[in-house]
Amino acid sequence: MRRANIDTGVHIFVNVEELSQAVADLVVKCAQAAVQASGRFAWALSGGETPTRTYELLSHSNRMPWTQTHVFWADERCVSPFDPRSNFGMANELMLKRVPIPEQNVHRIECEEGAKASAEKYERSLQIFFDGEMVGFDLVLLGLGSDGHTASLFPGAVPQSAAERWVIGSTSPGDNLPRVSLTATIINQSKEVVFLVSGAAKAQIAKDVLRINEDTPKLPAQTIRPKSGVLVWMLDQDAASLLDLTV
Ligand code: 6PG
Repeated sequence: MRRANIDTGVHIFVNVEELSQAVADLVVKCAQAAVQASGRFAWALSGGETPTRTYELLSHSNRMPWTQTHVFWADERCVSPFDPRSNFGMANELMLKRVPIPEQNVHRIECEEGAKASAEKYERSLQIFFDGEMVGFDLVLLGLGSDGHTASLFPGAVPQSAAERWVIGSTSPGDNLPRVSLTATIINQSKEVVFLVSGAAKAQIAKDVLRINEDTPKLPAQTIRPKSGVLVWMLDQDAASLLDLTV
């Protein structure tokens, strides 16, 4: 077995509940530190099933500096915000509508205009928020697909032009649904990036993504390497079952 690439922080939890508690604690700590340092917390949320419990837990947190928190999304499906597939809809339902975050601090990806136009619009809004500087988010949460995708960056479908872009339009291969995604370029400017992975179905891909293997083409999840920030993987035991963490 090849050794997992543990210059990345890898943390393993007995089940999804413990994983979710730990991620919620990490978000709170990160938010408090960011607010103390710069007066605001810029946080990009992941979609998918894995972070749902974390969002529920955070909806009850009285330690989150909600009024200074700005939420963005790592990706979105081009559906109505009321569609059950909407990443905004999911986070709104479980967390945002239950907490005192100012409406103007919720920066959803408005996908109604189609993926390309929406990506350009979201990129402009990020450039305005970050004053044109590539300073990046304080925290980005990401998931891992069983094909190695992360956000909506799918294997074999990330255009070369993505290197110069902060946000791109994409299409999910399974259902051909147009999507909008942050690129690795902007994610890698972040201060902290955290992958949340759970379930035995993710064990093989977690092993593939985390192992050192220069010979295979890079999977999208492997292109996430923050330039000067911290990369953390938080997995439940089932997802981590094939990792060899010995040094
Ligand atoms: C989304 C994200 C996707 C997700 C992974 C993992 O679905 O919105 O685009 O990248 O984070 O597919 O999803 P699970 O957490 O459901 O395994």
